[in-house]
Amino acid sequence: MADETKVIEQERALAGEIIAAPEQPVPIEQSIAAFKDEPPRYADGSRVPGWDDAADLTKDPATIPDPATTPVPDELRAEIEDLMTRYPDPKSASIPALAAAQRLHGWCSPEAITQVACVMRLTPGYLIAVASFYDMLDTKPVGRCRVYVCTNISCSLNGADELLDAVKGELREGDDIHARGFECLGACDIAPMASVDGVYVGPIALDEVPTLVEQIRKGEDPLPEKQLIKRRSVDPEANA
Ligand code: FES
Repeated sequence: MADETKVIEQERALAGEIIAAPEQPVPIEQSIAAFKDEPPRYADGSRVPGWDDAADLTKDPATIPDPATTPVPDELRAEIEDLMTRYPDPKSASIPALAAAQRLHGWCSPEAITQVACVMRLTPGYLIAVASFYDMLDTKPVGRCRVYVCTNISCSLNGADELLDAVKGELREGDDIHARGFECLGACDIAPMASVDGVYVGPIALDEVPTLVEQIRKGEDPLPEKQLIKRRSVDPEANA
């Protein structure tokens, strides 16, 4: 009878019905050690920042800025107006319009938001909601040059964490450079890579980092021979 039970259990186990319990419980120290390399977390336990500032409900919502009292640089106005013509609903130009203002002002400052709102005839609140949602729009000053080091899977497997540490380690006091990790930038074939103000560069070797940072500091072309746009694709004329 005992043999029969054993045979039945073996058959059930083979069919995946029985999951064998571990012979020994895993010691707690071992469990903790397994998590010691976890990415850093915010105080609430999340890996991503939460809401930055609560709205001040004691204030009246800002209205659409008055063009008569809101100076907007001509070039920015022209760029935003051009962007608005490209979408069936002009509001859809909010993201590129905010990006244009960020390029001019360095970040989506209250002044930048007001100027975009004035041209687009939107409330600042609408644009702040957009700017605070998207990762590449900054509602606080961070540094004029944005260096996003991709730390997603392909780049991670090719040393992205060390690359990000090296880039950050190369920065000096007073550098107007914002270096941060970023999720997949969609250029996994050149991992590990970074976006330098939108210019994709990779694969970046650790010993190229000092040159890269110095080029960024001087406003030079970052690692020109490693730029994605300079690579030959299946169409040899594509990036000629
Ligand atoms: S994982 Fe880095 S670009 Fe995709």
